Amino acid sequence: MVKKADFAIYPGTFDPITNGHMDIIKRSLNIFEKVVVAVTDNPEKDVMFTFNERIDMIKKVTQGLNVEVVSFRGLLIDFLKKMNCNVVIRALRAVSDFDYEFQMAVINKSLSPGLETVFLMTNKDFFYLSSSIVKQLSHENADISQFVPKYVQEKIKEKL
Ligand code: COA
Repeated sequence: MVKKADFAIYPGTFDPITNGHMDIIKRSLNIFEKVVVAVTDNPEKDVMFTFNERIDMIKKVTQGLNVEVVSFRGLLIDFLKKMNCNVVIRALRAVSDFDYEFQMAVINKSLSPGLETVFLMTNKDFFYLSSSIVKQLSHENADISQFVPKYVQEKIKEKL
């Protein structure tokens, strides 16, 4: 029998964490006692921040919340087994996310049948937000204060 979850894992690249991610984390905490944010590298993405920098930013901006920040490499399902967790949180933005998310959820479930992916609809204010957009805007010196926490904004400034 599958154990009922009291925490869920929210995996992603988080390069960097945005207010859209923060919204998902906070709303997940209305459902789960605790959220484990799991940072990984997607080989298809060039990252601006190192693993440690991304983890540091997430820890800072989630202070006071029941959030643990960890990193993993390799398959998500292997990491979930290691953590003894069977719930993954993912966000859906525009319809364009659906295919990719659906594929990941189905493949993960076929490899690990006890696993459930919980999808939360992104808040309308962040529907078209992505980490890449934040980075693009920053390169052009645009005001990103409505899209990322202040600490992340400072780290981006330092990086550039
Ligand atoms: N608000 C704003 N932006 C959001 C968002 C939200 N609520 N939710 C997602 N995004 C954005 C992210 O900023 C990111 O933007 P970017 O593409 O510009 O970087 C994009 O949506 C999606 O990124 P993310 O959620 O970080 O996912 P990912 O595609 O980088 O990685 C993993 C997804 C980590 C879950 C997946 O790659 C994985 O499981 N990797 C491990 C290897 C594995 O098991 N592979 C087999 C999978 S079947």
